Amino acid sequence: MSELIYLDNSATTFPKPDVVYTYMCDFYRKHGVNPGRSGFDAALETEEVIIATRKMLTELFNGNDHNRLTFSYNASDSLNMIIQGLAEQGDHVITTKLEHNSVLRPLYHLEQDKRIEVTYVSFDSHGYVDPEDIRKAIRKNTKFVVINHCSNVIGTIQPVEETGRICKENGVYLVVDGSQSAGAVPVDMKKMNIDVFVFTGHKCLMGPTGIGGSYVMEGIQVKQTRYGGTGVRSAQRTHLEEFPYRLECGTLNLVGVAGLNAGVKWIQEQGMEKLHEREIMLWDRLRTGIQGLKNVTTYCAENSINKNPVLSLNIKGFDSGDVGTILDVDYNIACRTGLQCAPLVHEVLGTDKMHGTVRLSIGPFNTLEQIDTAVNAITEISAIR
Ligand SMILES: Cc1ncc(COP(=O)(O)O)c(C=O)c1O
Repeated sequence: MSELIYLDNSATTFPKPDVVYTYMCDFYRKHGVNPGRSGFDAALETEEVIIATRKMLTELFNGNDHNRLTFSYNASDSLNMIIQGLAEQGDHVITTKLEHNSVLRPLYHLEQDKRIEVTYVSFDSHGYVDPEDIRKAIRKNTKFVVINHCSNVIGTIQPVEETGRICKENGVYLVVDGSQSAGAVPVDMKKMNIDVFVFTGHKCLMGPTGIGGSYVMEGIQVKQTRYGGTGVRSAQRTHLEEFPYRLECGTLNLVGVAGLNAGVKWIQEQGMEKLHEREIMLWDRLRTGIQGLKNVTTYCAENSINKNPVLSLNIKGFDSGDVGTILDVDYNIACRTGLQCAPLVHEVLGTDKMHGTVRLSIGPFNTLEQIDTAVNAITEISAIR
């Protein structure tokens, strides 16, 4: 069998840089002890790596105070904590039809429980949300806007800075789901007026699964929704209010933090912009290679401006799942098909009725030859019918 061509990097980047695997293993052998609870050397050294990683990510997102960079399991986990921690009875929340279920489902639950009202703003035919539509949706009781920075279905990078300006002008918090943007494109919380930025470790930040988190700007009131051990002030009966404890309880995923640390260092050494440019060059080759084909439809992929290297397509006469199976079995190409956990995107695109799309997503370890093989595979499949 030929080598695996992995084009499912939006789900999780794979493989990881070698330094991530080796550092995780070395770190866990030497420092796999519980930090923040004891004063022995290994525990203090472990704590140092955690603090260094908080600082590294705080700097990457241009926050101020590394203690407000908190870790969780993944983006879904942090989005649950942030959305539930911000929403209060009677609030109105604005979101978009580009969102992942990690945003939609926490909102649906709050809506079903009649605790909040939600407005779902759509996107245009190119895949972008117009910040003016967000402005129009703002009401007196709007508490926050929660938006996707980069779509995991069509790769469009949203105009967050303009949305942030509108939120600031109207005294509304802006929460950004940076699952697909952290580590891929610059994030400047201050310039973009982002109040809460949520990230996951296992995608473009090149870390392992099981680690993610958020940065909450000063003055933003997020209630604790989880309580437990913090290692300090154990006699207090309520969960601590100060960061990072406010949004963390129990023992952290140490090996996950270590992997994330190594992943971010690797990105910085390679240069985030350089990595992105190369991936977009590959994306353009893929796009131009298949866009002329008679039976192939691509979605919101007119050009590479403000894009992440994600391409959604369908082949006439085929269910997207069947294309995925042929790519897997006949070409050893791994991709994602279906609704990609973002059902409203497909409702807007009209692809919900065709069981979604075939999504090919490019990562730092893909090569030109692999992209050419993918183009050839789509060309052959599209010629079958
Ligand atoms: C836009 C977006 N938001 C949230 C998530 C959830 O990320 P995680 O699986 O790390 O919780 C994903 C994952 O695919 C995503 O693409």
